[in-house]
Amino acid sequence: MIRFEHVTKRYADGTTAVDDLSFEVAEGELVTLVGPSGCGKTTTMMMVNRLVEPTSGRVLVDGRDIAGVDPVALRRKIGYVIQQVGLFPHRTVLDNTATVPALLGWKKAAARARAAELLDLVGLDPAVYGSRYPAQLSGGQRQRVGVARALAADPPVLLMDEPFGAVDPVVRERLQNEFLALQATVRKTVLLVTHDIEEAVRMGDRMAVYGQGRIEQFDTPATVLGSPATPYVADFVGSDRGLKRLAVTPVTEADLDIRKGSPEGDVGGPEEYENGAHVPLGSSLKDALALLLQHDTGRLTVTDAAGRPLGVLTPEGVHRALRRATAEQT
Ligand SMILES: Nc1ncnc2c1ncn2[C@@H]1O[C@H](COP(=O)(O)OP(=O)(O)OP(=O)(O)O)[C@@H](O)[C@H]1O
Ligand SMILES: [Mg+2]
Repeated sequence: MIRFEHVTKRYADGTTAVDDLSFEVAEGELVTLVGPSGCGKTTTMMMVNRLVEPTSGRVLVDGRDIAGVDPVALRRKIGYVIQQVGLFPHRTVLDNTATVPALLGWKKAAARARAAELLDLVGLDPAVYGSRYPAQLSGGQRQRVGVARALAADPPVLLMDEPFGAVDPVVRERLQNEFLALQATVRKTVLLVTHDIEEAVRMGDRMAVYGQGRIEQFDTPATVLGSPATPYVADFVGSDRGLKRLAVTPVTEADLDIRKGSPEGDVGGPEEYENGAHVPLGSSLKDALALLLQHDTGRLTVTDAAGRPLGVLTPEGVHRALRRATAEQT
């Protein structure tokens, strides 16, 4: 859906912001771009909607070299959440959200109805927040309006530049989870810029780890954490990458100590189950481990989707799961 072919961007003053970049984002995929300040993330993103033109190389969207596509027509298909949100201060939340449909020439009532629908989708009641001005919202609410505005024209592609950057970690995690739930239904092709490694890991189907103007590694979060391609990437993802990997490794049947078909008593007795010490298959090892530590029994019941016990997970099982995840990558 989005394809970079040997793209270099040199600004007028000689700064090479991006150097020979090649990567591809599949339709419906969410790719995170992560790296230190000034490494070229925003520049990369702005070359997708032609706010910045490459010095050399090509950018293709939907199979077409965008150098030959009218920028206005191109941007219609690409929602953009800019760094620092960028809402219009003198327009209401509803009118901010309706900006793009209005630009596209929708009738005012239709544009506003669409905007109300989108505000609802991002968890802001349009009856309460629609008539407010951006200054009358919290930081997290403003960021939601930014996301709603980018989604308003239902573009197949979304560019999000640090969309959850301006809020505290708790609100950020909530916005991330809400966006992931939304993405599971709308399935946009998304490029999301962040300098937060945790966000890149949690949000990305795949992630691009930037060094200075270059991608050092482009792969799934599990692979980047499990097998960093270079010492730079290893350093960037941090010495606790083993712990971070727990968040992206699911519990599978192979990790359980006693499989389905065993007598019910062996897979975690009813008390254990009722105590809440159970997780569904496919939960992250991080969630499973957190529960294991909380309950102090050294075992955790793992259930199927219907809540029936399948087996138990022990600390040894967690260890096995991590070894399995590493083996799968190589
Ligand atoms: N218009 C410009 N003219 C000259 N240099 C620029 C211009 N825009 C960006 N740069 C430089 O290009 C490099 C990459 O900038 P870019 O904005 O892409 O970084 P970034 O990864 O988004 O950083 P941040 O995380 O701080 O937002 C930086 O060195 C920056 O100073
Ligand atoms: Mg930037």
